[in-house]
Amino acid sequence: MKKKKQIIAILALIFPLFVSTQNLVNIPDTITGTSINLTIKDSVKQFYAGFNTATFGYNGRYLGPTIILKKWQNVTLNVNNQLTDTTTTHWHGLHVSPLNDGSPHNLILPNTIWSPSFTVLDKASTFWYHPHLHMKTDLQVTKGAAGMIIIRDSAEASLILPRRYGVDDFPLVIQSKHFNASKQINIGTAYDSTILVNGTRNPYLPVPPQVVRIRLLNASSDRAYNFGLTANKTFNQIGSDGGLFANPVTLTRLILAPGERAEILIDFTGLGGQNINLLSYASELPNGIYGATNPAGMGPGTITGYSGNPLNGTNFNIIQFQVNLVQTANPVTTIPSSLVLATPISPTLSVQSRTLTISPVVMGPSGSVNGPFQFNGAPFNMNINNYTVPLNNIETWVIDNQSAIAHPFHIHDVQFYIIDVNGSIPPINLQGRKDVVLVRAQQTVKFIAKFDDFCNNSIPYMFHCHMLPHEDDGLIGQFVVSCPITVINENNTNTGDFNVYPNPSQQFINVQLNDVTDKITKIELIDLLGKTIYVNNFYENKIQIPVSNLTNGTYFIKVYSNDKVLMRKLFINK
Ligand code: C2O
Ligand code: CU
Repeated sequence: MKKKKQIIAILALIFPLFVSTQNLVNIPDTITGTSINLTIKDSVKQFYAGFNTATFGYNGRYLGPTIILKKWQNVTLNVNNQLTDTTTTHWHGLHVSPLNDGSPHNLILPNTIWSPSFTVLDKASTFWYHPHLHMKTDLQVTKGAAGMIIIRDSAEASLILPRRYGVDDFPLVIQSKHFNASKQINIGTAYDSTILVNGTRNPYLPVPPQVVRIRLLNASSDRAYNFGLTANKTFNQIGSDGGLFANPVTLTRLILAPGERAEILIDFTGLGGQNINLLSYASELPNGIYGATNPAGMGPGTITGYSGNPLNGTNFNIIQFQVNLVQTANPVTTIPSSLVLATPISPTLSVQSRTLTISPVVMGPSGSVNGPFQFNGAPFNMNINNYTVPLNNIETWVIDNQSAIAHPFHIHDVQFYIIDVNGSIPPINLQGRKDVVLVRAQQTVKFIAKFDDFCNNSIPYMFHCHMLPHEDDGLIGQFVVSCPITVINENNTNTGDFNVYPNPSQQFINVQLNDVTDKITKIELIDLLGKTIYVNNFYENKIQIPVSNLTNGTYFIKVYSNDKVLMRKLFINK
């Protein structure tokens, strides 16, 4: 025993990295069902022995459980905010209504519970959840509030794929952190030199000698990874952010920027007893991507702390796979040759094109890599809607990066298909379902998406850079998916979706939606000449408005709710 310790001490002097303690990677608990409770709270965790690091966690000290849902199931998520600050919980990548999205518009005040409820419409893939509070996303995510979501569906279930969570199907939530001298997490710095996988430093993972599925989530604030295995061993990507591919794509490298996910298969068959590392081959990252040698893709710009960070521009380990000698029962031993039916949207179906330009607020080498950045030369304003997309529109969005650093562009509500990158067809593994795309310096990325199922005339969806300091500093915007106008019941009888009374009126009219969960967002009064004589915004189920100043006659009242616009005749008779 004593001799062994001496040998380790000697080895530690010669190969300090070689013998640095490895830790069995944490595999987050799972949570499933139709009612899911998440409590976000302050906590502490010992990332370093003897140091209590202040953290945030969902149902635990750091990160959160993996939520497993089935397509078409109904789910209610009860998010209990036990932080001392407001938060929100965004279901990143899920196709849900703006009220269920967990965006900066769906606040959860301290000591309150937010309970979105929806039907899961997404295809089998890997998603995640995290706070999205305006200007505080980085703070809350970096302190540890984030978790993975796995969606299953029948198409995926019919394939021969590893899907036993923690046995042959493993979640890897990858983050880089800056721990200061007292081992507290610092926010918003470029000193993020510690890699955590599922919250574990220097992690290893025992894997069986067979085909294993790895779900990669880049949950870092800024850093992109250029994933690859020891000795350039190949792996197979089977899906991107929002779904599986038609066929596996064989790779030796895979770049994932913040917010992006990928499912990969690694064939460990016959490798029992060996150790195979997952690395980031950051020395090969093109300049201009956070994590490369130079953060500027052009020009001399740099970021404070960046060049001294040992992770930038050098290859480093993410996790070590230690291959067991014995296979599991019913192992998957081959990579399937085909996966699911992929249904990209044809560019010819696009009815609207929108160009979003990313540029620094302050021109010059520093501003062009550090930011702040903004869309279309305008600051973000929570009360200004940037785009109105009619429900069911198929649109082409063009993201034009006129800054010196790459930005992972993310849009809520939809999965999109990349049509071209600087005019060229993207690589095959970027042609699948995506909700984040890394747009490099001076690059233009064009994608197509259909904005279906959910409309709301007042509550927008967000789009933003998923480098969290960039998002918090203003590289964020919003769009409303507007509801079609349905004009119903033009006479003055109270049937259908809303009541107007009394009608005829003299002093006041009351307007009430029959669906108690719906809200009146706007009311317009229009005279017989078509002129708007009154307009006001609301957010109530029932409204009373004065009409005593109107002259006798016939008017139209137009009532906007969250998901429809209704019109009816109104009579003033005093
Ligand atoms: Cu993962 Cu709008 O965020
Ligand atoms: Cu950015």
